[in-house]
Amino acid sequence: MAPQVSIIVPTYNESQNILGVLRSIRESIPSGVSAETIVVDDDSPDGTGRMAEEYASGLSGGSTMDVVHRTGSRGLSSAIMHGIRRARGEMIVVMDSDFSHPPQLIPRLVEALRQCELAIASRYVSGGGVRNWPARRRILSRAATLLARRGLGIRAADPMSGFFAFRRGLLSGLSIDALGYKLLLEIIVKTKGVRVLEVPYVFEDRRSGSSKLDGGVALDYLRSVWRLYRYGRARRRERRASVRFASKAARFFTVGASGLAVNYLVSLLASSAGGFWYVHGSMLGIAASVVSNFVLNKSWTFEDRDFGARRTLWQLARFAGLSSLGAVLQIGAVYWLVGHHGMSYHEALVLAVSAAAFGNFALNKRLTFGERLWD
Ligand code: GDD
Ligand code: MN
Repeated sequence: MAPQVSIIVPTYNESQNILGVLRSIRESIPSGVSAETIVVDDDSPDGTGRMAEEYASGLSGGSTMDVVHRTGSRGLSSAIMHGIRRARGEMIVVMDSDFSHPPQLIPRLVEALRQCELAIASRYVSGGGVRNWPARRRILSRAATLLARRGLGIRAADPMSGFFAFRRGLLSGLSIDALGYKLLLEIIVKTKGVRVLEVPYVFEDRRSGSSKLDGGVALDYLRSVWRLYRYGRARRRERRASVRFASKAARFFTVGASGLAVNYLVSLLASSAGGFWYVHGSMLGIAASVVSNFVLNKSWTFEDRDFGARRTLWQLARFAGLSSLGAVLQIGAVYWLVGHHGMSYHEALVLAVSAAAFGNFALNKRLTFGERLWD
C-alpha cells in the first residue's frame, strides 16, 4: 500500500550527519502515519550513499527507506525533483540532511497540509530564526529573500526555505527547471494562488561537514530568479494582438527617441570633452545610440522574446544593419519627394522619418527579434 507521507532527503558528503539525521527522521514520524523516506545521494565521495544504504537495509517494521544513487548529475534541486518523482506518498516533505532542519517539525508540516496545499518551515515568521550563522550569511540570505519577494511579488516570508511540505498533486502539469538550490521558490512562483502556510522554526547551522553553497550556487540563484521573473511576465501576456502590436511599436519609438538623445550627447561630449574631430565624434554618437537602442529594445520592447545570450551579438549586427538601411531609405525618400515631387523639405522630412521609423520597427520585429509582424 502506498505510504501517506514521503520524506525526501538530498545528501552530498554528509557522512558525519546522515545516520543521526535518518534516525531522528524515523523517530519523528507520528505513530499511525505510514511514511517512506527517500534519500537521494549524488554519489558522495565520502560514502554517504553507502552508509544510508546499510542503515536502510538494517531496518525492520514501520516506515520504509529507499536510497537512490544518482551518478552523472549533481545539484540540490534536481536531486529533490528526482526524489519527488519516485515518491508514492500523498504528502511530500523535503528537508536537508545536516540537522539544519529539525525533523521534530515534520508532524507539524504534515498537520498544516490539512489547511493548505503548501506548508513552509519558515525562519522569517515570528517564532522562527537562525542560529550560528555568521553575519555574512545572514545578510546574504536576507538580501536574496528580499530580491525574490520584491522582484517576484511573493508573499511568503521565507521562500528560500529548503524545508517544506506539499500535497503531491501540487506539481502535476508543471514543468520544473530545478536550477540551483531554491526549488521552493520555483514551486511558489509556478503555483501562484494556492494556499500557503508557514510554520516557524529555528535553522541551526550545520555542526559538521561543510556547506556546498558557493559562487556557482549564487549565480544559479540569480539566473533562476531572472527566469522566474520572465515566466511571470509571460503568463500575464496581453491577449489582444492589436494591443500587443501598439505597445511594442510605442516602446520601439520611445527607445528611438532616447537614442536621439544618446546620439546628441555622446557626439557633443566626444568632440568637446573627448577632443575628437567632430566627424569622428558624430560617428561615436551614432554607434552609441545604435547599441543603447539595441539593448533597450532587447530587454524592454521585446522582453518576451527568447533571451539566449549566444545570439545577442548576431542580433546586434542585424539591428545595426537594418537601422542603417532605414537611414539610407530616409535619405532616398527625402531626395525623391523634394526633387521629383516638389514637396517642401519639412513635409518630406515628416513623411520620410515616419516611414523609416515604421520600416525600422517592422524589419527589426521580423528579422532581428524573430517575431511575426502582426502577432
Ligand atoms: N543530492 C544532493 N546533491 N544533495 C545536495 C547537493 C547536491 O548537489 N548539494 C547539497 N546537497 C544537500 C546537502 O547534503 C544538505 O543536506 C542540503 O542539500 C543543503 O546543502 P548545504 O550545503 O548544507 O546548504 P546550506 O545549509 O548552505 O543552504 C541551505 O540554506 C537554505 C536556507 O537558506 C539550503 O540547503 C536550503 O535547503 C536551506 O533552506
Ligand atoms: Mn546546510
